[in-house]
Amino acid sequence: MKELTLEKLIDLTRTHAGEAEEGALDGDVIDVLFTNLGYDSVALLEVVGQIKHQYGIDLSDETVGEMRTPRQVLDKVNEVIGARSPSHPVKERQHVTDNASTDTRTDKTTDAVVPDEGHFLPNDLYGLQLVLLASGGRLFQIVHALGELKIADHLDDGPLPIDELARRAGAHELSLQRVLRCSAMLGIFAEGPTGVFRTTPVAKALTSDNPHGVLPLLRYNHMELTARPFDEILHSVRTGEPAFPKTFGVSFNEYLENNPEADRFCDDFQSYWARQFAEEELDQWDLGRFGSIADLGGGDGYFLAQALRRYPAMTAWLLDLPWMAKKAEGVLAEHQVADRAQIIGGDLLTDPVPEGAEAYFVKAVFMRFSDQQAEHALRNIRTAIGDTGARLLIVDSVLKPGNAWDHGKLLDVDMLVLHGGRKRTLDDWHGLFSRTGFRLRNEPVYHWDLLECEPV
Ligand SMILES: C[S@@+](CC[C@H](N)C(=O)[O-])C[C@H]1O[C@@H](n2cnc3c(N)ncnc32)[C@H](O)[C@@H]1O
Repeated sequence: MKELTLEKLIDLTRTHAGEAEEGALDGDVIDVLFTNLGYDSVALLEVVGQIKHQYGIDLSDETVGEMRTPRQVLDKVNEVIGARSPSHPVKERQHVTDNASTDTRTDKTTDAVVPDEGHFLPNDLYGLQLVLLASGGRLFQIVHALGELKIADHLDDGPLPIDELARRAGAHELSLQRVLRCSAMLGIFAEGPTGVFRTTPVAKALTSDNPHGVLPLLRYNHMELTARPFDEILHSVRTGEPAFPKTFGVSFNEYLENNPEADRFCDDFQSYWARQFAEEELDQWDLGRFGSIADLGGGDGYFLAQALRRYPAMTAWLLDLPWMAKKAEGVLAEHQVADRAQIIGGDLLTDPVPEGAEAYFVKAVFMRFSDQQAEHALRNIRTAIGDTGARLLIVDSVLKPGNAWDHGKLLDVDMLVLHGGRKRTLDDWHGLFSRTGFRLRNEPVYHWDLLECEPV
């Protein structure tokens, strides 16, 4: 773990305890008393709370009481960090002045302090992570509620006292304060010493005008459609089957077909992402190389419409399930490109794929298919390509190997539970292509990219 620097400490202080006086933290402040910088003990506790949150270091009250200057904070914190470094003997204490907890050791791979078997220390890093995970459902509901109350929007212009914030949000003051206090513990909002709340960099993602914000994702994950099947995740894990039909008695697509409101929401959610990135993706993939393109599982046709508008000589097919294909008719017409596109209501798993395209484009569809279904769809496309040499262009996840963070690994479980599909590693893709008569031509980047294949 990196040591705490003065710059980082100042940054934490500014972000979580505020700028006490204009410019107070500029210049050589390392040995200046916090009180002379305008910070009282409550403000210091905020900073210490963040150090605990970000570094997993729990300083005792007694130690905190002794820390009067930034240098004293740095010395104490870096003493613990130093003790955790791999070169240091493995036995160490969790609390700086707490003699009671000695059964800890350092995990050399993460630098985190982990309890010995049988000893649970609620304040250690792993303990906290597990408590957080065990309470994850509640935390999700808290963040969702704060999102719906538009707290991030209300605080966007500056901090507000809780009574004013509650008034603007239309909430019960004390209850809102309690829920906010919980979120502040996680760094989502921050509470000042006098019941004044302010936003944080994390909360920016909750503002409703943020094009990269997470409000739509929160709402999507909150829907019955996506939330309830997770109650049955054990079924998926035990059988490899999606939990969705067990929960609702129908497949995901059938549910949407019969629930116009949920369908509308999913459409908006899907197009929210698709519309944001369409231009950027078209810049990247140079589809103008092809005179004609078949967009398989093309959804409501927005992406194809953008491609056709960009390349006026291009002609196209769009194939999607019949109820979705109907929507594409409207979108293509709206963009005045319907005369160059043939729309087919069909199933990629059972119906023939149109012949004659120079490229077969399949974006965000294979992740919904099991390997067996994916192979079937690929063979179907391979049959349509025949010996024309047309390209197959798949846009999908390429999961990062090992233990690296990749949001796709979470979505992979979504695919399992909701659709019985999966996200894939590069090796998984190579396996699928080699079994179905394709060869990958490019080196896709991890997370999300275009996989360009030629028939073999
Ligand atoms: C996540 S959306 C992607 C839509 C579009 N390609 C995009 O990137 O915006 C997945 C699409 O696959 C379609 N789909 C799913 N299973 C299909 C199947 N068996 N045959 C044809 N389309 C299918 C869905 O109807 C949906 O429009």
